[in-house]
Amino acid sequence: MDSRQRKNLRVIAPCLGVIAIMLGLVAYSPQLYRLFCGATGLGGTTQRVNEDAAAVARRMVTVQFDSNVEPGLPWRFTPEQRAVKVHLGEQKLVYFSAENVSDQPIVGHATFNVTPLQTGIYFNKIQCFCFTEERLDPHQKVDMPVVFYVDPKFGKDSELRDIDTITLAYTFFRSANPANARDLSRFLPGAPPDQANGEKLFAERCTACHALDANKFGPMLGGVVGRKAGAVAGYRYSPALKSASLVWSAESLDQWLTDPQQFVPGARMPVRVLERTSRRDIIAYLQKESGDRPKATAADASKPVRLE
Ligand code: HEC
Repeated sequence: MDSRQRKNLRVIAPCLGVIAIMLGLVAYSPQLYRLFCGATGLGGTTQRVNEDAAAVARRMVTVQFDSNVEPGLPWRFTPEQRAVKVHLGEQKLVYFSAENVSDQPIVGHATFNVTPLQTGIYFNKIQCFCFTEERLDPHQKVDMPVVFYVDPKFGKDSELRDIDTITLAYTFFRSANPANARDLSRFLPGAPPDQANGEKLFAERCTACHALDANKFGPMLGGVVGRKAGAVAGYRYSPALKSASLVWSAESLDQWLTDPQQFVPGARMPVRVLERTSRRDIIAYLQKESGDRPKATAADASKPVRLE
C-alpha cells in the first residue's frame, strides 16, 4: 500500500464502520423495538389479559381485618379473626366484637375503608354494621357479623394482578346523633326475632326471585311456613326439592337458608344467608306472612316435620 491508498483507507474504514452499525441496528430492530416498547408500554404491546377463567375462580385472596376506636368512645372493638382466605366470589362470614366498658349506654357509629383503594369496588358487603347508629348497654359485649365477598371481576383486573391481600378496616366513633340508634343486642344469641327487620331483609335478599303471592324465578313464599316443600302449583321445582319429603318449619327454613344445596342436595336456590340473626328475622317475617300457623312456632322449631 502506498501512502495514498493508506490515506483512502483511513477515510473509508470509519464509513464502513458506520454502515456496519446501521445494518446491525436494522437487523436487531425488532428486538430493540420490543425492548423499548416493553419498557415504556408504547406501541400497543398487549397486556396478558387472557387469563384462564378457571384460574380466576381458583384464585384466592387474603382479607385482613383491622379495627380502631376513636378516643372518647369507651368501647373495646376487635375483629375476631385477623385474616381469612377466600376464593373470588365466595361469601364469607366473619365477626367483630364490641364491648362497652363504661357504666352508661353508649351509641357508636362505624365507618370503614378498604385498601388498597383500587380494590374497593370489588369488595362487596352483604351484611355489615356500617353507617347505622348502634347502642351498647353498660358492659355489654356483642359479636357483630359481617358477610362479604370479593367480586370475581377482581381476577380480571390486570392492575390488581399482583395484589393478593385486601384490608377491611372499621373505625367506631361516639355518635353525634344518638336518637334513633339500633340495639346491638339484636346480635345476641337469645335476642327475640325482629319481623320488621325480617321484612326489610326479605326485600333486599329474596324479592329478586320470590314474591309472597306469585311464582317468579323462585316459588311463591306467602304461607310457606307449615307448607310441604316443593308443593306450589304451577311452579317447576328441581326434582330434588319436589321429592324432598319435608315441611317448612322455622328449623328446616333455618337449615335451608344456611345452605340450600347442602340441606337438599340438587336444589336450585343459589343464595345463602350466612348470619344466624338475619335468618332468624327473615323466618319470623315468613311466619307472620304465613298467618302464624301453630306449626311455625318456635316450640316446633327443634323438630323439623318430615313427611313419609
Ligand atoms: C337468585 C334467586 C333466589 C333468591 C335471591 C332466593 N331464592 Fe329461594 N328459591 C329460588 C329457587 C330457584 C327455588 C326453587 C328451588 C328448587 O326448585 O330446587 C327457591 C326455593 C325457596 C324455598 C322453598 C319453597 C318451596 O315451595 O318449597 C324457600 C323457602 C325459599 N326459596 C326461601 C328464600 C328466601 C327466604 C330468600 C331470601 C333470603 C330466597 N329464597 C332467595 C331462588 C332464589
